[in-house]
Amino acid sequence: MKGADKFERISELARRRGFFWPSYEIYGGISGFINWGPLGAVMKRKIEDKFRDIFLRRLNFYEIESPIIAPERVFKASGHVDHFKEPLVECLKCRRKFRADHLLQEFADLSSQETDRMSLQEIAGEIEQRNIKCPECNGALSEPKYFLTMFQTTIGPYSESVGYGRPEAAQGIFVEFKRLYEQVRERLPIGFAQIGHALRNEISPRQGPIRLREFTIIDLEFFFDPEKPQCPFLNEVADESLRLVLAENRLKGDGKPVKLTVKEIVAQGLIKVEWHVFFMALAKRLLADLSIPEDKQRFIEKHPWERAHYSTQGFDQEVYLDRWGWVEVAGFNYRTDYDLKGHMMESGVDMRVFKPSEKEIMRVEMQVKPLIESISQTFKDKAPKVVEALQNVDPNALAEALKRHGFYEMNGFRITSEHVEVIQKEFREKGRHFIPHVIEPSFGSDRLTYAALEYAYTIKDDRVILKLPRDIAPIQLAVLPLVSRDGLPEKAKEVYRILIDEGFTVEYDDSGYIGRRYARFDEVGVPLCITVDYQTLKDDTVTIRDRDTWRQVRAEIRGLPWLLHNYFRFKINFDDLGLPI
Ligand code: GLY
Repeated sequence: MKGADKFERISELARRRGFFWPSYEIYGGISGFINWGPLGAVMKRKIEDKFRDIFLRRLNFYEIESPIIAPERVFKASGHVDHFKEPLVECLKCRRKFRADHLLQEFADLSSQETDRMSLQEIAGEIEQRNIKCPECNGALSEPKYFLTMFQTTIGPYSESVGYGRPEAAQGIFVEFKRLYEQVRERLPIGFAQIGHALRNEISPRQGPIRLREFTIIDLEFFFDPEKPQCPFLNEVADESLRLVLAENRLKGDGKPVKLTVKEIVAQGLIKVEWHVFFMALAKRLLADLSIPEDKQRFIEKHPWERAHYSTQGFDQEVYLDRWGWVEVAGFNYRTDYDLKGHMMESGVDMRVFKPSEKEIMRVEMQVKPLIESISQTFKDKAPKVVEALQNVDPNALAEALKRHGFYEMNGFRITSEHVEVIQKEFREKGRHFIPHVIEPSFGSDRLTYAALEYAYTIKDDRVILKLPRDIAPIQLAVLPLVSRDGLPEKAKEVYRILIDEGFTVEYDDSGYIGRRYARFDEVGVPLCITVDYQTLKDDTVTIRDRDTWRQVRAEIRGLPWLLHNYFRFKINFDDLGLPI
């Protein structure tokens, strides 16, 4: 692999040993899809488990699973049908299709900061002015147009029943919010996460595990009262420093990160909601646990035109990768009440929560007054149905829809201001109704796994050592008889059995010269090899060999389970495992 870059070397190892490789190769392959193999799948799951530990278990938040396919109305309400688009151009000669903004970044040296705010017309102008041609055949390019990057399908044999593959797991949480909120006995703040496959019909993905059409997303939707944005755990991360590339500095052409502690970030008002920066600090720690050094991580504050349609403040967490430079691995967005409001408008279901209070609060409530005459004229014999449906509609959602769009879609009826009057009434009540706001940390699990592989990939004496953190190594232990005779394999199998029964992931291997076996296990990141030798037969001790230093210690077999459990929980280190040899 002379001259190969890190990505090529890792891909070769990943394919040969079973971490990841492109899907459907026997049919020629199709870009944007990969398989995680026997080792990769376990490693990826262990990284997801780290997220579960840090972001769910320790904060007493929950995980759910919802379907990958959703009916069109879900993604109309969420804004994805209108916004989840990318500019596309087609080569008029070879008919290949490309992301127009990516061509401008590659061939016109424009940054994504510049291309993200360009209209289709501006993109067309740049392509023409800079004489950009098809990168494959040099043919002329078509006018750019928008391409909806959700996978569309029909649900059942009905062509009118349109559905989409989810481009994020978040909506599965928002649409179920009411029920989830009841299940946690109306606790706020509260977080619900979902880890699962998401689908994005990328125009031309060419970056292995970095840009996939089907990938694993880790979405945490954290719901809070917008009048109580304080995070009680902020002290736990107050001194953690984050490297922020602020939007105002980016505008001045200054892309250098400023290193600030969480305390300073909050004091300077750089982030609107404390929870937002709290999650970013946890994410920095998560990446540090994956061995990604501090100076290879940064947070980019997005400009309004770069942010997703639902976001009012957003940071991307980026990691430096050998082939692609800075690559986004996570996003942290303040989604406000955008999604719950959207679903409230589309479904008519009230997504507000009620917080009781000691004192009476005066509030103004909107009420919907149906204008019967006009409703009868428009909807004829369906008028009673319309009037009935209007009784269950959220007046705020209806008023907002009339203001935003001039109409409100309800059960297939289009309501305009001719049909209703939204009036305000004053109430006194002990409490208040409001739609919770949302902060969303969202990770790309595939990218995290690749990044962890890249930072673990090390060469020592011309050999690959995969220095994976011990808690994400897919195989924890290898048990090896020194030689394959004299009763050593039998004894080694006993040790293997003990460790398997203790719940460790262990491989037994007695094939070939011991040095070669060590090398094979180093290459896939097995933290410890346990060797059974002639001494074992005498005193029931084994050698334990460290993957990273190749040092060895000697320990008694009967003490191994306790020692190893503590080692894999980071309670003790290699030197505590036994006596040096
Ligand atoms: N839910 C995060 C995203 O769509 O990127």
